Amino acid sequence: MPNILIIEDEPKMRRLLEISLGEDGYTVHTVQDAESGLKYFQREALDLIVTDLKLPGMNGLEFLQEAKRWNASVPIVVMTAYGTVETAVEAMKAGASDYVLKPFSMAELRLVISKELDMQRVREENRSLKEALGKRYQYQNIVARSVKMQEVLALVERVAATNSTVLLGGESGVGKDLIARAIHQNSRRASGPFIKINSTAIPDNLFESELFGYEKGAFTGANASKPGKFELADKGSLFLDEIGDVPAPIQVKLLRVLQEREFERLGGTKTLKVDVRLIAATNKDLRAALEQGTFREDLYYRLNVVPIDIPPLREHKEDIPDLVNHFLVRFTRENGKQVQEITPEALKLLMDYHWPGNVRQLENTVERAVALSADPVIHVEDISLDSGVLGRAAGSPAALLPEGMTLEQWEDEIIREALRRANGNKSQAARMLGLSRNALRYRLSKIGVPDD
Ligand SMILES: Nc1ncnc2c1ncn2[C@@H]1O[C@H](COP(=O)(O)OP(=O)(O)OP(=O)(O)O)[C@@H](O)[C@H]1O
Ligand SMILES: [Mg+2]
Repeated sequence: MPNILIIEDEPKMRRLLEISLGEDGYTVHTVQDAESGLKYFQREALDLIVTDLKLPGMNGLEFLQEAKRWNASVPIVVMTAYGTVETAVEAMKAGASDYVLKPFSMAELRLVISKELDMQRVREENRSLKEALGKRYQYQNIVARSVKMQEVLALVERVAATNSTVLLGGESGVGKDLIARAIHQNSRRASGPFIKINSTAIPDNLFESELFGYEKGAFTGANASKPGKFELADKGSLFLDEIGDVPAPIQVKLLRVLQEREFERLGGTKTLKVDVRLIAATNKDLRAALEQGTFREDLYYRLNVVPIDIPPLREHKEDIPDLVNHFLVRFTRENGKQVQEITPEALKLLMDYHWPGNVRQLENTVERAVALSADPVIHVEDISLDSGVLGRAAGSPAALLPEGMTLEQWEDEIIREALRRANGNKSQAARMLGLSRNALRYRLSKIGVPDD
């Protein structure tokens, strides 16, 4: 049974925690200050620590820092009073795994503790998996031969079994939808609903009713009551795509649902309870949104329980041949054509491309090639790659850089584009870029284009 240490100076509270968690079957040890807690931690093997933040002597935050220095892998849950959410956020930054706001119900604390212990198991198993990676993960519909994608699938498998919130990250077209569905399908909730909601597609003023539903008469036009996505996803999974685009007022409401698993319909008085696993996705750097203040930190930490980052296609090019075959099978079936092969030259062309639009772009490229090919084999001529990057930036005057790109990546793209326009002639490409041939060579070597 897991060993839990409780640090709480208030005697009644300490006793309550000791008894209730003991009843849950945990082995509980309690201390009344952080100094003794630290000593105990350094002596005993612990699975989890629950600590108050406001303590006499060394405070909870200092304890957290010391404890993390000693052994960063043991999850620490902090308890803090309402109205001091900033301290909770600070604790999360210092490495706390989660927090509960006082006064909390034992049910809430239990939920947080069992989730953390679950996740601890997942992390540990994943660590050894990463080393061994003996088992090959296979999912229908997902091509994942590369080590990077195998790691993603290993994580999917581990996390599917839990109820933890998952935050999927990755550029556009890397397969976030696909992975979200895989998590659902491999969970105990597979027979329940999978409900998707795309934050970008919903106008701000409809957001709340979309998520939480409304009662008849809640606003003009609400002629009948309607359940929201959370209700529809009960006993299943809710996939919140583009979470970074959720408007600020809704972020607060989401936080509450994540914390308490309950909400009211718009215009309703009845509090509804749901059993939903949340999977969120973003193709933006949410951390940047945190710094700009457009995304709430407390919500971020609630969502980021298990982050799964899906790599861009250019980082797992080994998967391209399998992906091409996968799509060939699909499109020939759909088009009633007999294209089953691709010439080595055409495949090389695909292998050499940098795929700014990731797997989706590859999929579209293969589809076009199947449609264009006059015989059962795909040749170089059947493949048309987007002239790419310069077109994309022009499409969005408001954005300086194409979405999800750093200045450095953009520069790399321009260099590649120049080389393409110059048909591979480096002197010509260098002239287009105002660089010497040597300077271009240097840059090309940096981005991994071989010198010939
Ligand atoms: N590893 C893979 N194996 C097979 N198909 C894949 C893989 N990754 C992505 N795809 C396919 O590529 C297409 C794009 O994937 P998906 O829609 O999941 O990307 P996304 O990350 O959600 O993109 P966006 O950010 O634009 O929403 C889909 O048709 C998906 O089935
Ligand atoms: Mg998507």
